[in-house]
Amino acid sequence: MDWGLKNRMSRVFKSKTGRTVMLAVDHGYFQGPTTRLENPRKTITPLVPYADSLMLTRGTLRNCVDAVADVPVVLRVSGGPSILKELSNEEITTSMKEALRLNSAGVGMSVFVGGEHEKQTLVNLGHLVNEAEEFGMPVLAITAVGKEMERDSRYLGLACRIAAEYGAHIVKTYYCKEGFGKVVDGCPVPIVIAGGKKIEEKGALEMSYNAIQAGAKGVDMGRNIWQSDHPVAMIKAVRAIVHDNYTAKEANELFEKEKKRS
Ligand code: R5P
Repeated sequence: MDWGLKNRMSRVFKSKTGRTVMLAVDHGYFQGPTTRLENPRKTITPLVPYADSLMLTRGTLRNCVDAVADVPVVLRVSGGPSILKELSNEEITTSMKEALRLNSAGVGMSVFVGGEHEKQTLVNLGHLVNEAEEFGMPVLAITAVGKEMERDSRYLGLACRIAAEYGAHIVKTYYCKEGFGKVVDGCPVPIVIAGGKKIEEKGALEMSYNAIQAGAKGVDMGRNIWQSDHPVAMIKAVRAIVHDNYTAKEANELFEKEKKRS
């Protein structure tokens, strides 16, 4: 791996554990003012000290994160449709020059395997990897986002493997209870899980724990952190699973303890 690419990857995945807690705050790019992310600065600022990277758009980065913040950025560079339209109809919307100007540690884009515009998004990924590799920029491929989709291990395995075959350096996908280990085994690059819709904290911590046990290299989590009534306690508990090998039960105890302080 090229030095620059390796160095950027190491800014996202902590060398001590080889894992990462990415904070996903890019939801507004198709959902607008998502619940509890209405004012991104307010949501993001208290969580920055506990995030290994922020995953967001350039608009939120420029306007809602201080440039002196000591946190790497994985910049979302794809978009197009809003929640009102066909989500898979994405293009690359932010240039590599912009990603470099913003000192990004990586760029992220969505692929919609099985979606109406599957081919377009996979070709987007191929082109983005071609360009990114010229600059030593890791590409995060985000899979399995969509309104009505059976997110079983067969589908997730297909989507993740395809993303890796196109050259993605990191793949983000959803966790599934049955066969997630197979999804990880079939994907030759690190997988991080999205959290999905907000569920109770205990359940989200169990999901994080199970994903890590199955071989995920971390999380790129949004709503299950900042839609919690105690987001700082929650991100600390997730970190304990990812970096300190806490069990789900231990992490939940930590959450309960921390939430009294917040
Ligand atoms: C979706 O396209 C976005 O990339 C989100 O960042 C992603 O779904 C992760 O967020 P959450 O944990 O809220 O599912």
